[in-house]
Amino acid sequence: MKKFAVIGSPIKHSLSPQIHTLFGKRLGIQISYEAIEVKRAEFKAKVDKLLNDGYLGLNVTLPLKEMAFQYSDINSEEATFTESVNTLNIKNSSVFGETTDGQGLLLDLKDKGFRLEGSRVVLLGSGGSAKSIIPSLLSNNLKSLSVANRTQNKAEVLVNKYKDTSPEIGLIEVDKPVDSEVDIVINATSAGTLKQSLTMPPNIFGPTTRVYDLSYSKDITPFNLLAQKAGIKDTYDGLGMLVNQAALSFEIWNEIRPDIEGIEGKLRS
Ligand code: ATR
Repeated sequence: MKKFAVIGSPIKHSLSPQIHTLFGKRLGIQISYEAIEVKRAEFKAKVDKLLNDGYLGLNVTLPLKEMAFQYSDINSEEATFTESVNTLNIKNSSVFGETTDGQGLLLDLKDKGFRLEGSRVVLLGSGGSAKSIIPSLLSNNLKSLSVANRTQNKAEVLVNKYKDTSPEIGLIEVDKPVDSEVDIVINATSAGTLKQSLTMPPNIFGPTTRVYDLSYSKDITPFNLLAQKAGIKDTYDGLGMLVNQAALSFEIWNEIRPDIEGIEGKLRS
């Protein structure tokens, strides 16, 4: 039996054990997959112990993705760029760090029929979640990627990091109107999870704007509710991204990509 787990805090409500168990069943691979509470202060001691106990891979979620990046022996190019690791893979006694968040988002956007090429995209937020998806978004020939964040200098740092290689990235202010219609709005703030209100450009939702909220909840997310109240029909939450990034992690560990068909629907019901 191959042992895997997701670590983070809070972790009780993680859907990852359910998702990976389904993948294992579909492929006839015997795995165990637990959700283990790990706080920042205990990261090294607990991860050392898990690896010692024979775990072959760990998914890493909030608030540990940067610590996992520091912990790995060898990080992938994308993990290095984003300074974020959501998948630890143990191989030949080395710890490999990878991030499947960005590619998981791209796969789900594709599944949901989003067209990124030539699109004007607004990204709200500049924390860990926003950082982990920027290189993937920028790999799609967007017309523009405009980043807005409550604390503007954090958005500025992010934009400056990519500006030279990707001139389509730019900064916008959270409380000023945008000057052209937005095709896609991606919410990467934690305002909804924290049950706080969110300031954003007043005209951000145009008649043809599509909305993707990286967070997910049983009911519609607060951000998607705001968008719907502003007349947007096309709103998606991050559950599909979760399933896709899980499939990519599973593939890193087991060298086979599980079929995700029907899993998102199953989780919703
Ligand atoms: P995560 O890993 O989920 O991205 P994070 O790194 O703590 O979590 O980042 C949270 C992001 O949500 C930040 O961009 C934060 O803005 P600040 O940089 O100004 O803190 C944003 N955020 C959180 N609560 C918010 C709120 N009520 N309104 C606007 N932005 C908010």
